[in-house]
Amino acid sequence: MKSETAVTTVSLRCIEESCGARYTVTSTTTQCTCGNLLDVHYDWPELSPQAIKETWQSRRMSLDPSDLSGVWRFREMIPFLPPESKIITLREGNTPLLSAPQAAVYAGLEEIRFKHQGFNPTGSFKDNGMTTGVSQAAALGKKVVACVSTGNTSASLAAYAAYGGLQAVIFIPAGQIASGKLAQALEYGALTIQVDANFDATWKLIYHLVEEAGVYLLNSINPFRVEGQKTIVVEMLEQLGWDVPDWIVLPGGNLGNCSAFGKGLREMRQLGLIDRLPRLAVIQAEGSAPLYRLFQRAAAERKSPGEIGLRAVENPQTLATAIRIGAPLSWRKTLRELEATQGVCEAVSEQEIADAKAVIGQSGIGCEPASAATLAGIRKLAANNVIRKSDRVIAVLTGSLLKDPAYTLAYHQGTLAYPSASQQIPIQANFGNQPVSVPPDVERIKKLLARQPH
Ligand code: F0G
Repeated sequence: MKSETAVTTVSLRCIEESCGARYTVTSTTTQCTCGNLLDVHYDWPELSPQAIKETWQSRRMSLDPSDLSGVWRFREMIPFLPPESKIITLREGNTPLLSAPQAAVYAGLEEIRFKHQGFNPTGSFKDNGMTTGVSQAAALGKKVVACVSTGNTSASLAAYAAYGGLQAVIFIPAGQIASGKLAQALEYGALTIQVDANFDATWKLIYHLVEEAGVYLLNSINPFRVEGQKTIVVEMLEQLGWDVPDWIVLPGGNLGNCSAFGKGLREMRQLGLIDRLPRLAVIQAEGSAPLYRLFQRAAAERKSPGEIGLRAVENPQTLATAIRIGAPLSWRKTLRELEATQGVCEAVSEQEIADAKAVIGQSGIGCEPASAATLAGIRKLAANNVIRKSDRVIAVLTGSLLKDPAYTLAYHQGTLAYPSASQQIPIQANFGNQPVSVPPDVERIKKLLARQPH
């Protein structure tokens, strides 16, 4: 098969065209000397799109670990490892596309489908990028890998490092990550360092320290993480029979994932796998929305967002702790992808996130708070006629419901509250489902059952 044997040349390139720096694929740096981020760049030989699609289909019958992975099955899109390299895979990807009529009604649309990344081995989309990132670390001979994280990256890094026989070191903002994520990192044996600071401050503190120590950084600025995450949209398009949707909607924190989606989409078009690009919509939480604010400022000043530049949110706040980031590192990459796809950025309130999450739960699907920002954002964009009623919309649910049980319990019990600077703002349990307590009394239980529809 041509797509198996064709040779692709690979390099790392600075995203800033005026810089133009290139690095070899074995470089351990995650940033250009000019301070900008790097892309993995491929010079693909002539490939037949039909042949690639057939190869990917046929691998679904294979029991080879690299074919069972929903990332490496698409390896023609990510050919950066030398052929003899070991792939560290936990069968990531392979996540379902679920139709959600109740969520569509809630958002005022005819249809919504969820691409649920919570079905991954550690319960979040980070696994798609961690199989590629940790495999690259191992190929480079690295023994220790590190990240700063709001929770999911650290859980995923801990798992893949452990599975591949590497040591993970994770830095997390103390008391600011969901319990499911911290529990995972501890269980998978990561050296877990809780820093009494938020994500942004922790990043500034450790970035140089870690690099100087020769430890390989696997935050989403690492271009090999982006390579794995871009396969989320490849798998999605395959599931859609290569019929391009109108919108792909995702939550935004550090903005690595949006950059991965845009790159994957552009490359699929370059390879002739799709003939047009869907629009990307990034949704942020209002208290933690530096990209959204940048777009607002740009509109007010009638300038492009790139000219103005991102201003960090100093003290970002949201109960969706996964996306509590004030200075997203991949904002320039994401801006590039929003420009390429005529994308948009929206911000939603804590109440909107909480209610959207409960609606996703009522469909039997469920997700963690950050993921629910998608449905809240779609509803807002539909109300403002940015997304039209008949548009075909895919929302990406980035993490599992089980990541943050405390949030879910507090919502349903009516005790969820948003800490603002001066007071606790209660969140209404508009879709709450309170547990009912009864004594061990048969008659009382019978009465309760009688109230249910038969
Ligand atoms: N959704 C979830 C569940 C996340 O964990 C994250 C990021 C995002 C959305 C946003 O993705 O950063 O690529 O824009 N979590 C990172 C972490 C920051 O450390 O786990 P992004």
